[in-house]
Amino acid sequence: MAPSTPSTPQGGGRASGSDSGSPAPAAAAPGSYHIEDVIPGVKIFVTKPLPNGQAEQRKAEVLSTRPKPKPSAFAPPPPPDAPPPDPRDDTEYYVHYVEFNKRLDEWVGGSRLILDKEMEWPKPKDEGKKKERPGKATPGGVTPLRATGSPRPTGSLLKKAATKAASAVGKGTPLGKDAPSGKIPQKRRAKAEPGVDEEEEEDADGEEDGLDADGDVSMSAASDGGLDADGEVDLTAPSNPQAAPPVFSKKQEIEKLRTSGSMTQSHSEISRVKNLNKLQIGKHEVETWYFSPYPIEYAHLPTLYICEFCLLYYPTFTQLKRHRTKCTLLHPPGNEIYRHDNISFFEIDGRRQRTWCRNLCLISKCFLDHKTLYYDVDPFMYYCMTIKDDYGCHLIGYFSKEKESAEGYNVACILTLPQHQRKGYGRLLIEFSYELSKVEGKLGSPEKPLSDLGLLGYRAYWQEKIVDLLLESDDEISLDEIAQRTSITHGDIMHTCQALQMIKYYKGGHIIHLTDAVLEQHQKTMSKVRRSISPAALKWKPPVFSRAQLAFGF
Ligand code: ACO
Ligand code: ZN
Repeated sequence: MAPSTPSTPQGGGRASGSDSGSPAPAAAAPGSYHIEDVIPGVKIFVTKPLPNGQAEQRKAEVLSTRPKPKPSAFAPPPPPDAPPPDPRDDTEYYVHYVEFNKRLDEWVGGSRLILDKEMEWPKPKDEGKKKERPGKATPGGVTPLRATGSPRPTGSLLKKAATKAASAVGKGTPLGKDAPSGKIPQKRRAKAEPGVDEEEEEDADGEEDGLDADGDVSMSAASDGGLDADGEVDLTAPSNPQAAPPVFSKKQEIEKLRTSGSMTQSHSEISRVKNLNKLQIGKHEVETWYFSPYPIEYAHLPTLYICEFCLLYYPTFTQLKRHRTKCTLLHPPGNEIYRHDNISFFEIDGRRQRTWCRNLCLISKCFLDHKTLYYDVDPFMYYCMTIKDDYGCHLIGYFSKEKESAEGYNVACILTLPQHQRKGYGRLLIEFSYELSKVEGKLGSPEKPLSDLGLLGYRAYWQEKIVDLLLESDDEISLDEIAQRTSITHGDIMHTCQALQMIKYYKGGHIIHLTDAVLEQHQKTMSKVRRSISPAALKWKPPVFSRAQLAFGF
């Protein structure tokens, strides 16, 4: 499989899409290379079937190769009229489509490689390392919002940022961090009084029953980096305050996210290649998106079967069925802290339900690429949302939350299981996380970096809450008041307003300006029938932990 020594660069045309500033990658002209030359690192055109039955040719980077896996003993035999296997498919190539999200990476047979187009040879090793993303500036040094006291421009609803917030910000409170503590209303303070709500140990650990990831799994293989909401809008003082902040239309933003995002991050080689194909969770079968560090013996199974209640995993359906006859769990372990209609939230301490939480992390890593997942689940609480039917409480999604976050994060990782996405559950999880922050009397923000989908979900939520408040209040409403009433940090409010082009420079100060486009979008959102969290149904006191309980536990 070694490449035939290319007399690089080959004459035939230059490859497109190279990073600006770096020398053009060596291209191999059509006809000057063979299928044996297609090795990890090359970029080659691949046939990609489309959902509409057509196909297109997409440039893709080959990340790995393997002999075609033998069909599983459990796979049904091919139909008698199936075409004979193509010998080119005896080798499979794991490809990442250039400029497409990493979620679409897949194994393709050799017959899908397009050899009559140019191919790019791999970049020399040290060249690839050069292009690191610059570090993100923390959102300090922000141009403070100032009240203007100026008349409203006709045809638009003007809301002024409050002097209160401006002075707080002006005193150096960095946006994106918690608000000055003195601003939290006393009522909320009272609710935040310490009250230990120790969770009952339930029968869910499952450690004696079936497979356990303990000891086998290194959860540190995932990468960090990824799309960072902070990177979207630079809040550091612009040299020209009247210059419009960088703005993306929703379409542009989604396009940008589709073509960038977590896919471009550096990964250890192993974590670049998805190791599982499908998970079966309860009655749903879902395709995985990313690498997850399940034990090696589970890699490349056609489907991994997961008990939807205790989250243990099995290589065959028969083994799962056998397990289900013994498994008594019908809801996540931990305390049910919220119930409204058929939606419940369970609070689970990572320290008390280690196996369950580790198994949850293994599942969620299949759909989260941009974060390092820690094998040590002890420092986190897990808030799991379920939907109830006659059979039990089925997991829809969850978020984890550090027991103690130095950065003021109220969510570490958030996930709606893919089979339940785009139904409003992500919004519900986000809303719930802010309800907890309200009870704590704190402002909160999700841990950065956010994924592409995380950013979309949070932006939608922040926008809705901010616009709601702006519309509700007859008088001017301050940035600080928005923060206090929603528990959204000043920084996230500012980012949202800037991304929506709602910050205007007006008569020497900055104002929040509700545009027609934003109003129209808001009306559309509000016309959708959606669930929301009912704060009265939350029965929760912030858990209190001793130093020893907060210590890293493994
Ligand atoms: N495309 C465009 N907009 C989207 C998309 C998408 N695929 N997904 C969510 N949105 C936006 C929309 O505005 C949507 O509102 P709409 O449906 O009314 O248009 C809004 O987000 C809320 O959508 P929900 O249905 O409530 O969200 P969902 O249940 O799909 O969950 C989540 C969102 C949790 C981000 C989900 O996509 C997910 O689990 N992704 C994989 C894991 C992940 O990336 N998590 C976030 C990591 S960041 C962190 O952990 C802090
Ligand atoms: Zn089980």
